[in-house]
Amino acid sequence: MGCTVVVDGFYGDTGKGKIISYLAVADDVAVVARAGVGPNAGHTVVKDGRAYKLRMVPCGFVNPKALMLIGPGVLINPELVLKEVAETGIEKRFGIDPQCAVIEPKHIQLDQTDANLKNTVKTTGTGTGPCNADRVMRVAKMAREIPELKKYLADVPAIANKALDDGRNLLIEGTQGTFISLYYGQYPYVTSKDVCAAAACSDVGVGPTRVTDVVMVLKSYVTRVGGGELDGEISHEEAKKRGWDEYGTVTGRQRRAAPFDYNLARRAKMINGATMIGLTKLDVLFPDCKGVKEYAELGADAKKFVRKIEDEVKTPVSLIGTGPGVDELIDRR
Ligand code: IMP
Ligand code: MG
Repeated sequence: MGCTVVVDGFYGDTGKGKIISYLAVADDVAVVARAGVGPNAGHTVVKDGRAYKLRMVPCGFVNPKALMLIGPGVLINPELVLKEVAETGIEKRFGIDPQCAVIEPKHIQLDQTDANLKNTVKTTGTGTGPCNADRVMRVAKMAREIPELKKYLADVPAIANKALDDGRNLLIEGTQGTFISLYYGQYPYVTSKDVCAAAACSDVGVGPTRVTDVVMVLKSYVTRVGGGELDGEISHEEAKKRGWDEYGTVTGRQRRAAPFDYNLARRAKMINGATMIGLTKLDVLFPDCKGVKEYAELGADAKKFVRKIEDEVKTPVSLIGTGPGVDELIDRR
């Protein structure tokens, strides 16, 4: 596989965590490098019946042989990093770039009180926007200044590129979603930086010529949290009826919901240069798909939906999630 970048083609929360943890094991990945904004992300990973809610540690940790890294583009909350490293038990295979900028209490305070951020953008309140602002002002603290992190400091670009030089597999783990990108989303209802595939590469110091595949993750329906447009939005009551009611991993807020959006999918494919689609939660639309692992065993309606996505987006739907477990997945690659 070489270098695979995983990104979200909608508004975040498409279930990247599950796809990433599957790929980390199935593709015998040597290094997983976390990209994206910072701890505003929330990924749920189920391993051995235990659910891990991760905001800093890469979801690829489920592969016990793989090295877990956080790239220099990512903002870190040191307390959260240390807590998650202990919970996942990855102390001996974890590295953080010295150039990661550090979220401080004042950033969280501002994120939760600034009228525009709180009431209009409706941010996650995790301090990422104010910290990125300080980073641009060249006054942010860096990971290399935090004594508790000293033992984890690592040259992430050097390690990631060396893995590729040695013919080993690298997984770049994007977070957030294409349409909350600072550049490609509906400003100001966006996060504090670009989060598309090219940005994910930049976050970990890997050049575009080294990328083999870009996996774009799409959910079988669309959700978004916070402000901004959502085409075809349905009411919370209707979402409950359809089983599309979801609640934020980080904020607990009920997500807004809408049907699968082919226009967004096409645009996201273009911006990310996606080579394949990872489709999640197919079992929510078609309950008879639950736990199916072979494409041939999908029902006729589910197959029709998958074919329509492939026709409209002109990209193969290579991975299909049919349930929350890591093994509830169809791999057609
Ligand atoms: P911020 O990233 O906390 O500044 O929030 C800006 C917008 O992006 C808000 O609408 C958040 O709900 C949204 N957002 C940020 N991170 C995520 C994520 O990981 N999943 C889904 N939405 C997110
Ligand atoms: Mg999430």
